Amino acid sequence: MNNSLLEQIEKKYKELYSGKPLLIRAPGRINLIGEHTDYNEGYVLPCAVSPAIYFAAGLRNDNKVCLNSFDYGSFCEFEISQKETPKEQWASYLYGITRIIQEKGYKIGGFNCVFGGDVPVGAGMSSSAALESGLCLAISTLFNLNLDKMEMAKIGQKSEHEYVGVKCGIMDQFASIFGKKDHCVRLDCRNLEYEYSKLELKDYIFVLTDSKVKHSLASSEYNTRREECAMGVKALQKKYPQIKNLRDANIEQLQSVIGEITDTVYNRCKYVIEEDNRVIEACNTLNNNNLTRFGELLYLSHNGLSKLYEVSCKELDFLVDKTKQMDYILGSRMMGGGFGGCTLSLIKADKLEEYKNTILPLYTKEFGHECKFYAATAEDGTKVVG
Ligand code: GLA
Repeated sequence: MNNSLLEQIEKKYKELYSGKPLLIRAPGRINLIGEHTDYNEGYVLPCAVSPAIYFAAGLRNDNKVCLNSFDYGSFCEFEISQKETPKEQWASYLYGITRIIQEKGYKIGGFNCVFGGDVPVGAGMSSSAALESGLCLAISTLFNLNLDKMEMAKIGQKSEHEYVGVKCGIMDQFASIFGKKDHCVRLDCRNLEYEYSKLELKDYIFVLTDSKVKHSLASSEYNTRREECAMGVKALQKKYPQIKNLRDANIEQLQSVIGEITDTVYNRCKYVIEEDNRVIEACNTLNNNNLTRFGELLYLSHNGLSKLYEVSCKELDFLVDKTKQMDYILGSRMMGGGFGGCTLSLIKADKLEEYKNTILPLYTKEFGHECKFYAATAEDGTKVVG
């Protein structure tokens, strides 16, 4: 936990408003494997991480919502009943949460909130889910709504669909809320059943390498992938009416409708079907301590994301490719929505410095700007911390 950041946020709140605020920590997330499977009702294997967004919040006795972004030094105010989305980009995530909660029939009033964090924006660690989850818990706590965790994850996702315009799956909000220290959690995105597994990596750790290429999920590409998957399902359903989603299909069935779909749709569906199988295998390999096979699955996942799903970019491909020559790295892949952000690599803990010293000059030479490194440990999900 970043105590100094939390203290600064609390201090700022006290400067602006009076009283002792409620304090909340809402983390970003990593995903070990299972990318673009959530909105296809498949499996994902995320963890909450140490970078987080911290919130200080308190009630007001009118109906105003006053939001202060500590990082942007920016302020936004609206009436709780206001129907227009604020023009500040960052505020739309939070405004959306206040709307969805009210649409669900909960009565809430005005409140003050100062927030800021160390989740890098655009790095694929889901700063947006952290924002949504943190505010949701703040409102639930301030107004005694007792929202349950899954309901909060769904509120965050709905806000993202309706107020940000990204038709995301449930993974990011789920991970930010349900994360557990030293554990990853496998979520079945069909029935929302989940299972924690202790992360036992022997002398290995996960490292994130941030390509510093800013992805924009709001860019139409993410929503296009969703539509392409839906096209595949439609073609499959004609022949196999029992198929409700790509989760239900296998490669043989997909091959049997090859004449009905474009090559692109075929590739997208193939990737998703294979990735679902990889998540299941990855969970078994983790449980059996077979890190070598887990690493191979990471490379296979990347290959599919890059060649079939086409959500990688040259910088991410470069980073993954270079690790193949490093015998102290078992596997690596791009992580999150894609088109930039981070790679996730499984690396021998005592080789971390050697890795950084090798990759940084290579990357800088190739792309003319640096990459950045983050350790990726599993931490607790969104919670009240004061
Ligand atoms: C983004 C979305 C998630 C998920 C990932 C890809 O992070 O918000 O729902 O689809 O991309 O796995």
